[in-house]
Amino acid sequence: MKKSYQSLEVNLTNNMIQVIYRKLTSNIFRFGFVILLTFTTTLSAQEGDSAKGKSLFNANCAACHTLDKKMTGPALRNVEQRLADDEGLDREWLYTWVKNSAGMIKSGDAYANKIYNEYGGAAMTAFPQLSNEDIDNILAYTAEEKKAPTPVPGSEITAQTTATTGGVSNEIILGALAILFILLAAGLFLVNKTLRRFASAQGIEVEEDSKSTPLWKAFIKNQFLMLVTAIFFLLASAYFAFGYFMQIGIDQGYQPIQEIHYSHKIHAGDNGIDCKYCHSSARTSKTSGIPSLNVCMNCHKSIYEVSPETATAEYSKEFYDGEIQKLYAAAGWSDEEQKYVNEGTPVKWTRIHNLPDFVYFNHSQHVTVAGVECQTCHGPVEEMEIMYQHAPLTMGWCIECHRTTNVNVKDNAYYTKIHEQLTKKYGVDKLTVAMQGGLECGKCHY
Ligand code: HEC
Ligand code: HEC
Ligand code: HEC
Ligand code: HEC
Ligand code: HEC
Ligand code: HEC
Repeated sequence: MKKSYQSLEVNLTNNMIQVIYRKLTSNIFRFGFVILLTFTTTLSAQEGDSAKGKSLFNANCAACHTLDKKMTGPALRNVEQRLADDEGLDREWLYTWVKNSAGMIKSGDAYANKIYNEYGGAAMTAFPQLSNEDIDNILAYTAEEKKAPTPVPGSEITAQTTATTGGVSNEIILGALAILFILLAAGLFLVNKTLRRFASAQGIEVEEDSKSTPLWKAFIKNQFLMLVTAIFFLLASAYFAFGYFMQIGIDQGYQPIQEIHYSHKIHAGDNGIDCKYCHSSARTSKTSGIPSLNVCMNCHKSIYEVSPETATAEYSKEFYDGEIQKLYAAAGWSDEEQKYVNEGTPVKWTRIHNLPDFVYFNHSQHVTVAGVECQTCHGPVEEMEIMYQHAPLTMGWCIECHRTTNVNVKDNAYYTKIHEQLTKKYGVDKLTVAMQGGLECGKCHY
């Protein structure tokens, strides 16, 4: 009986191992197959880089074309395939067309004239500056499959956690302390119980007296315990009070809701728009400034909706399109009439970063002279769906960086002489901002 059970067990394990083995191998095969597939598809698609194509498309073509909707010009998804199938035109035709469509129309090319008339004689810009390779890249982008909306899991959460990591570690410490206390109490209770059991086993009478006095009375009677608890509470409250006072006026992580849901992730991240396109004064002046609605309308006269790929689980396409409508209302733009119809109402952006009035901070000094990246101070802006304050903006924060950052003296004639003098004075090769006077109160305080 016992034996048969054992053999059954052996059989079972054998079977299981076989099943697992088969699953594994078939999966490995599948995996290999997928790799092979992606390899071959990348090989066949090597004719163009669709990522580069996307930015070229956005920069040159998006004003008149979208992939899926007719605008000033035709929708361009799979345009190469379409022209090859319907009209028998090849890539050479497309090169010539994009570089100089007007020339083609004049030369009497049949299809060029057909599409030109179809679009009411609207002229497409000529792009002689684009190379064949550039156009390959654009065509690779237009040949991309239409993507289903991709949710970005946790994009919000990462923003939140990076903004609040300062508090988390403290909470963990407090939590660990609390658990330690509970364990200690439980331990004492158990020890007490076992001792009692031993005692009664040995036939020793344990005074039941302590049982009749309630625990809290015993506790109050014990002066040492009272002292320890009092000290503990005093220290804890001092700790919280100190923490509370220190964070007054520090708005790290501040993330207000704006009138228009404007996403840096979509603009600066996904579409790669340069920060300085909108915050143009960061290079040359003290402040960076917030762009006026004219700047937005440079693009949004033709971008009246977001593509379906832009929508996420959290924000739908309808939501984003509605936000663009808010922009139109604010700018006084009518999408139907394609012109400004009224004054609009300026958007009241809520200011996020704000130093006290007695501090002097200059953007161009940091961005242009020192060459500090925006992200060093403002964090991963290109990932922020909603803007928040990344740095604490305290005096300690400024000083810390001035102590540790070297001044960029290369190719800066202004610094050549002072660099020589100061390196002699300090006997070092590299100069930190602090050595140059970056810790002097007067530099930052009026
Ligand atoms: C100023 C607006 C404008 C810009 C910018 C523009 N196009 Fe066009 N495009 C048109 C118009 C309008 C047509 C329709 C033909 C015509 O009227 O000349 C067209 C037609 C085309 C066609 C033919 C499509 C078909 O279905 O037959 C292709 C291909 C094309 N454009 C590619 C591009 C590319 C690539 C770029 C960017 C490098 C670009 N266009 C930039 C306006 C523009
Ligand atoms: C298309 C225009 C545009 C681009 C590109 C852009 N921004 Fe902004 N930025 C805005 C607008 C509008 C606001 C105000 C709304 C808000 O706070 O989200 C803003 C707000 C900010 C703020 C907060 C200002 C405050 O109130 O304290 C910072 C910091 C910032 N941007 C940095 C950047 C950086 C860094 C980049 C590049 C990675 C960038 N921006 C790219 C338009 C833009
Ligand atoms: C350089 C071109 C450009 C400029 C300038 C620009 N946008 Fe956009 N905007 C885009 C593109 C591209 C999209 C995304 C379209 C898509 O995903 O299909 C977009 C999407 C949007 C959306 C929907 C997504 C979101 O962020 O909520 C809003 C709202 C918007 N823009 C507002 C603004 C405002 C306000 C400004 C001015 C401060 C501005 N845009 C400036 C190109 C621009
Ligand atoms: C050395 C750190 C640092 C760098 C680098 C930096 N900023 Fe700032 N930024 C700040 C501080 C500090 C403030 C708050 C200024 C104030 O309140 O006077 C601020 C404020 C802003 C604001 C709010 C409006 C304003 O001008 O006060 C915007 C927008 C902004 N920064 C964008 C940018 C952009 C874009 C870049 C890169 C080109 C950049 N910043 C680089 C530290 C920095
Ligand atoms: C990420 C590093 C960094 C941070 C943070 C930073 N700075 Fe600076 N700061 C620099 C560098 C680098 C220079 C040197 C620029 C140069 O070459 O003149 C500089 C120079 C300065 C100067 C000119 C000093 C001089 O000797 O001429 C002032 C004023 C200044 N910073 C103020 C501030 C204030 C105020 C803050 C905080 C709100 C701040 N900085 C935060 C890097 C930083
Ligand atoms: C690199 C720039 C910088 C230098 C140098 C600097 N400070 Fe500050 N200081 C700041 C900033 C930024 C704040 C605002 C901090 C805040 O809002 O939390 C500040 C705040 C203060 C405050 C107000 C108290 C507080 O913490 O809010 C005092 C007082 C002060 N500084 C004194 C000094 C003295 C004294 C010196 C010279 C030994 C000095 N600072 C040098 C940037 C600087």
